[in-house]
Amino acid sequence: MCGIIGYTGTNAVPYLIKGLEMLEYRGYDSAGIAVTAKGAIQCVKREGRVSRLRKAVDALPFSSTGIAHTRWATHGKPDETNAHPHISKSGIFAVVHNGIIENFSVLRTQLEKEGYAFTSQTDTEVIAHLLEKNYSGSVTDAMRETLPLLEGSYALGILCSEYPENIYFAVRSSPLTASVTPDGAFISSDPSVLTSYTKKAYRLKSGDFGRITKTAVEIFSADGKRVKRDEAELSESDINAEKGEFPHYMLKEIYEQPEAVLNTCRAYIRSGEVFFNSFPFDKKSIKKISRLYLVGCGSAYHAALTGKYVFELLTDIPCEAAFASEFRYSPPPLDSSTPVILISQSGETADTIAALRLAKEKSAHTLSVLNVRGCTMESESDCCFFTLAGKETAVATTKAYSAQLSLIYLLALHMGKLTGKLNGSEYGIILESVMSLPDRIRSATGVLDAQMRNLAKSIKDAGNVFFIGRGTDYPAAMEAALKLKEVSYIKSDAVAAGELKHGSISLIEKDTPVIALCCGGKTFFKTLSNVREVISRGARVICVTDSSHKKECSAFGEVITVPVSHPVTAPSLEIIPMQLLSYYTALLKGCDIDKPRNLAKSVTVE
Ligand code: AGP
Repeated sequence: MCGIIGYTGTNAVPYLIKGLEMLEYRGYDSAGIAVTAKGAIQCVKREGRVSRLRKAVDALPFSSTGIAHTRWATHGKPDETNAHPHISKSGIFAVVHNGIIENFSVLRTQLEKEGYAFTSQTDTEVIAHLLEKNYSGSVTDAMRETLPLLEGSYALGILCSEYPENIYFAVRSSPLTASVTPDGAFISSDPSVLTSYTKKAYRLKSGDFGRITKTAVEIFSADGKRVKRDEAELSESDINAEKGEFPHYMLKEIYEQPEAVLNTCRAYIRSGEVFFNSFPFDKKSIKKISRLYLVGCGSAYHAALTGKYVFELLTDIPCEAAFASEFRYSPPPLDSSTPVILISQSGETADTIAALRLAKEKSAHTLSVLNVRGCTMESESDCCFFTLAGKETAVATTKAYSAQLSLIYLLALHMGKLTGKLNGSEYGIILESVMSLPDRIRSATGVLDAQMRNLAKSIKDAGNVFFIGRGTDYPAAMEAALKLKEVSYIKSDAVAAGELKHGSISLIEKDTPVIALCCGGKTFFKTLSNVREVISRGARVICVTDSSHKKECSAFGEVITVPVSHPVTAPSLEIIPMQLLSYYTALLKGCDIDKPRNLAKSVTVE
């Protein structure tokens, strides 16, 4: 995923650089900027972070209009040559792009035959040359010729040296927002960049193209006709969060989890009952569900796998969790009796969007759990349930994940009640446990911070850390392993505790750190027997459990004690110390915590 921004108004470079710094979470392999000046396009690009580009932009002439880009490499090495913007053959066009052009190699071969020389390995460069090839005085006409040739996804920002105060744009399955503000006119991959200048913006639709000038946004729809769109209010979650007194967004967002869970629960609990304004099933139709699928990527998949256990326990409906990247190419038999719950913080993850579209093609009802309003998945899902975690900036998700878990509990409770599986008292006990999560998460965060800061010292040089668990402790172990590896770059593996003896235990040697998550209730003693297995091979075991099991665990080594809760909601508590441990380990290692290498906040390409 990449970040693009365009500006026309007064002095372009400061606005573009500030916008790039806010978009850097979308990718930070390289960055570049192009402006129109003296009848030509001037361009500066640098490998690495925006801070390196900032040092180079003094070379640019003053300009009122420009485009800029921060990159997460998909085609071609993350170096200066492949950095955007890409310039057309004669220099008349500059292009920045977020997405993937699937047929770029065919287009490139044809253009090379026609004498267009390429300087990069990117897919984007073909767009710049095609625009020039199809240009005969009107940029929008050149776009009408060029866009249908492209297969794949794009959000484009385009400069033309012959219209130096215009910025052209085009959108297909990649987010882009446009707005005319008192400070000037913008296009941006993320509306949050605009919230310092305006509270309204055009959320462009797939197929739209057009241009912005200092005073107007001109939009054409896919059929080429001029369209009038209303500007949308920029929602609370668009408002860019600041770090405040925290050194990193990740730590701030860990400490925001009680509020994220509270706000999410409050939205769906009325007078002691789970309440959804509209829900796709009732007592009758829910009985027609033959199987429920939960789909996501990365941490969202871990929430999906947790949901599988919870939904089956509370509703008796057979469930399956799937990676979206697998689901989209090896889908199970789907029809109207197999609803699909898709989980995504950003609502822009390419694999999850593709899974959503495939489910709809097969008449499966699609329910999406999302954190960002106005995202692509919101417009394409049959129904949406929003977590209210607020804007999450750190690439490693924490508060959005915790909010996803709480919403999954509420959905399962509601469906358990509809199926009749859950009786009144069980429903009440579990709902009470969900409503107590904010306080319990707050307590776990505050009490365990110092212990995790200390534990980080002893694992920061580990070569390999194992996380084990059974039942819902297992997806929690997967999330814990992902957190540690993605921010501290320590190799971390999650193993279903019962699986250890089937192979992974061969990797256990003296002092190998094994973190055993044992909060899941009925499998507690089974996990302890796996703990004994690894201890007998020299492992250093750290148990994560609740205060009612602390005594049994302390016989094996260090214990991380989280507040007692119903086994259904235990995953929300055991992940807190794991998040803190990952953060403090990465801090000790001097890693780039909010923007880990090679990652992006939302992967909008496959
Ligand atoms: C989690 O910390 C990662 N940032 C990543 O696994 C993320 O959960 C995944 O890319 C899915 O993103 P989404 O929730 O926005 O779809």
